[in-house]
Amino acid sequence: MTQVYINQLNNYKDKEVCLKGWLYNKRSSGKMQFLLVRDGTGLVQCVLFKGDASEELFNLCGTIPQESSVIVNGTVREDKRSPGGVELTILDINVVQKAEEYPISLKSHGPDFLLGNRHLWIRSKKQHATLRIRDEVVKAIRDYFYEKDFVLIDAPVFTPAACEGTTTLFEVDYFDDKAYLTQSGQLYMEAACMAFGKVYCFGPSFRAEKSKTRKHLTEFWMVEPEIAYADLSDVMDMTEDFVSYIVQRVIKNRPDELEALERDISLLKKIVPPFPRLSYTEAVDLMQKGGHEFEWGGDLGAPDESFIVEQFEKPVLIHRFPAKVKAFYMKNDPEDNNLALCVDMLAPEGVGEIIGGGQREDELDILSEKINRHNLPEEAFKWYLDLRRYGSVPHAGFGLGIERVVGWLCGSSHVRETIPFPRMLYRIYP
Ligand code: 4AD
Ligand code: MG
Repeated sequence: MTQVYINQLNNYKDKEVCLKGWLYNKRSSGKMQFLLVRDGTGLVQCVLFKGDASEELFNLCGTIPQESSVIVNGTVREDKRSPGGVELTILDINVVQKAEEYPISLKSHGPDFLLGNRHLWIRSKKQHATLRIRDEVVKAIRDYFYEKDFVLIDAPVFTPAACEGTTTLFEVDYFDDKAYLTQSGQLYMEAACMAFGKVYCFGPSFRAEKSKTRKHLTEFWMVEPEIAYADLSDVMDMTEDFVSYIVQRVIKNRPDELEALERDISLLKKIVPPFPRLSYTEAVDLMQKGGHEFEWGGDLGAPDESFIVEQFEKPVLIHRFPAKVKAFYMKNDPEDNNLALCVDMLAPEGVGEIIGGGQREDELDILSEKINRHNLPEEAFKWYLDLRRYGSVPHAGFGLGIERVVGWLCGSSHVRETIPFPRMLYRIYP
């Protein structure tokens, strides 16, 4: 019999097929057995009518435990009320493994319990939908850069120095030396864009975040494009185009998953360029006039970001922060040396920062002075300074955190649900 995946059943109406999957849930009404089977591509209701089956088969269907692995042979029937528009009339069923009592029932559990059972929790409907959307986001990102002729350049995970501040470094023994897990591939992308023009890296980033928030993981995935002969304004245009592309792709290709998550798509449909743009100084003004206390000079915290995004329906670009609160590699604004040529994108619905980026310092002397002022080890940055000795040009880029974007699209309350196996403060199991 033809083996078919559930998301293809529609093409097999009135045909006999074989399904390989797991029992998600079941119920019975004396004369009927209803088995809800999942196979990774979807869910389908498999039905057995007592009068049509041997007593043995009918009784077997009633006793298969949740999450047992099953192979079902059956006939595909059109059923407009079922998800996917079809159901399966069972002809035969083979239990590959009879599962032990499954720890996750369909009632609700606490987050600690679910995270401790993450290896099983990813089978549940909403978690499954979220990770499918993550897959779509990743595909959209790769397609976007491929279509725009960017070259994928993988950045190393072991690095000799900090990119995003020394307080969140993970240190590891590296033979007789120390190394750090990468916080960002940016510095390597700066090297790569001088070789390839337009590049990006996409990989895991590590930060020893010691605070428990709903936005921070210790291991997260970041995509980081970098462009030679580009400035802050080029990067702002690109972030807007890029984020709109991702959002619209997910709406188009993952409607079932968004529905499983009960996501209000009308809000996401509005995510098209242009996005509102505010300088940091204008954002401070907005907060102060709106009665939200904030003093010029500080970095934006989560409550400040929330206040700002609540004023808009689309993501907001905040540019030109005080140089003091930003990383060493940022170029200062020639119009006002206290400001950095940087941009953060804040997503709506309380999500906050999803992108950080900007224009890089391209002058040797200034960069070298900044490295010293930030107390960074000059030796480890020799290669980076070389880039300003040999054909330095204005260049710019940004980093987008995948988990925060997936969380926004899925309406998740915490980024831990947007990565298959989250790593957080005090959580490294399973
Ligand atoms: O703003 P960040 O720190 O910028 C950089 O790392 C730059 N070097 C990127 C670049 O210009 N190439 O981080 C960029 C994004 C944030 O906006 C956020 O979406 C995500 O990475 N991010 C995190 N996501 C989850 N958990 C964490 N601990 C994160 N830290 C940053
Ligand atoms: Mg940032």
